[in-house]
Amino acid sequence: MHAEQRDPAAAVRRAFADRFGRRPEGIWAAPARVNLIGEHTDYNDGFVLPLAIDRRAVVAAARRPDDVLRLLSLQKGEEQLHLRDVRPGRVHGWAAYPAGAVWSLAQDSPPVGGLDLVLTSDVPIGSGLSSSAAVECATVLAARDLYGGPDQPERLALVAQRAENEIVGVPCGIMDQMASVACTAGRAMLLDTRSLATEQVAFDPAAAGLVLLVVDTRVSHSLADGAYAERRTACEQAARVLGVPALRDVTEADVDAARDRLGEVRHRRARHVVTENARVLAVVELLRRGRLDAIGPALTASHASLRDDYEVSAAELDTAVEAALAAGALGARMTGAGFGGCALALVPAGAARTVTRAVQARFAEHGFRPPAVFPAHPTDGATRLA
Ligand code: GLA
Repeated sequence: MHAEQRDPAAAVRRAFADRFGRRPEGIWAAPARVNLIGEHTDYNDGFVLPLAIDRRAVVAAARRPDDVLRLLSLQKGEEQLHLRDVRPGRVHGWAAYPAGAVWSLAQDSPPVGGLDLVLTSDVPIGSGLSSSAAVECATVLAARDLYGGPDQPERLALVAQRAENEIVGVPCGIMDQMASVACTAGRAMLLDTRSLATEQVAFDPAAAGLVLLVVDTRVSHSLADGAYAERRTACEQAARVLGVPALRDVTEADVDAARDRLGEVRHRRARHVVTENARVLAVVELLRRGRLDAIGPALTASHASLRDDYEVSAAELDTAVEAALAAGALGARMTGAGFGGCALALVPAGAARTVTRAVQARFAEHGFRPPAVFPAHPTDGATRLA
């Protein structure tokens, strides 16, 4: 393990002093997330149930008297640009995440000036754990504390999302940024993505004798970006056909009744969204009643729906899910946007090793890259460390 991963705050503080010859004004951190259930529902005004995990982006930052952004990533190198030059389509590569975050705060709460900033992250990139939201949220928090801006978590998440939508150019929903800002330790967060109301729901696998395993397939298929936008458009078209603001506003019966008008593909896309919303609420109800052990079938049904109706799974994800279930997982599903990235499996603690080995063995049989398997522990959202 690298030194910056063992003590990332010390690593960014040291790198800041070495590179910029002064001390940072503060250090901030924002976590990655896994989504327990509620996939591709957030841009349909629906429900999601993510938890923050103990992987995170950490930034050290200090104001500058001009509008220069000097950005040093311990993983990616250094970039320098003027805040006035940050505009949609103008910043490429990793710098778009922190620069976009500062730009977005400046749109929300001017004036915002330049920053010296050092960044490190132990969130695997392209894994569907929202490494990008972690960087955006850590940077928004830093810039907000230094230059002023909103206190409410929802507004901070919206500022971070705008960076992703407009500067990075990904038409994502609000789940990842809200998870990174507002999740709490020991809980999953039910988020109504229409009202941005949240409910923190107890989620303690260890107390139930369970483990939530994350299987990082370490593949990210290149069609992911175009397919995400295409799914989003299909949902918007389906809502228009159904005469509602968003698919959040219809039931499975409504969708089935409009099958001919929707066409076969849009019908399946819409069916995924409405059945997924129902599964989120069913899982929350079980968690409220302390029945974490009973949510497995809903997780597995979510996977089938994403694979068959929404068509965003991948061979590696299906293999991870099937192998985990065959080896004793109570439920398993892909998590995140899909086309690679991570699956999760809810597993009796005593079976964690068997399940891990079974997944690894099936990946080897298929000739896939060895997956990384690790347990997820629900942690707190973005915070100032120093
Ligand atoms: C990505 C997006 C989220 C959400 C998920 C799918 O993580 O950033 O907004 O749409 O995909 O649930």
